[in-house]
Amino acid sequence: MRPPAIRIIEDEHSAIAAVLYALRYLVKQMRDCGEPANFPLLRAILDYVVSYPDHWHHPKEDRYLFARIRQRTHDADALLADLEREHRIGYPMIEDLTNRLIDFQNGEACAREAFFELAGRYVQLEWAHMRKEEDLLMPIAERVLDKADWEEIERAFRENDNPLFGIKPKDEAERLYQRILSLAPAPIGWAGKATRGS
Ligand SMILES: [Fe+2]
Ligand SMILES: [Fe+2]
Repeated sequence: MRPPAIRIIEDEHSAIAAVLYALRYLVKQMRDCGEPANFPLLRAILDYVVSYPDHWHHPKEDRYLFARIRQRTHDADALLADLEREHRIGYPMIEDLTNRLIDFQNGEACAREAFFELAGRYVQLEWAHMRKEEDLLMPIAERVLDKADWEEIERAFRENDNPLFGIKPKDEAERLYQRILSLAPAPIGWAGKATRGS
């Protein structure tokens, strides 16, 4: 049986991928079809990415999954270094993206194109990153981690669901996710509901 922790991580990837799909769709509609910008929706998408994948999903991978694999084998050293580098470059990209969105909303010169360009790069980076984790890292993890390792990783990821000092990251993510769906035009709302996975 596959360890439940893998399913939890894949479900989180599905939720993140659905939000990234929404971002890519909006950029395409604005850029190619001249749709006006929906700033509240774009802002809600960036808030979600900051609050969930950046603050919770990636750090848990670093601290538990990656650390444990590194203790068990050197086979994944290069891959883990690559994945950690991608986590690190993702954080400032979102900060940049938020700043470019503000410039775009303020009508500053070239800000619209700059936002589109960076949004496209961010979506590509994150998609490729999650694919790499699922297709390349998980098979190694399944081979080298034992039952106790997986239980520890599962506990860490399930902690996302627990209120800790009043912080409920999954509730917060769900609230932001619902806000995205409520603000999104139908094609995105449907895609989000269809691909959420959890
Ligand atoms: Fe990751
Ligand atoms: Fe991940």
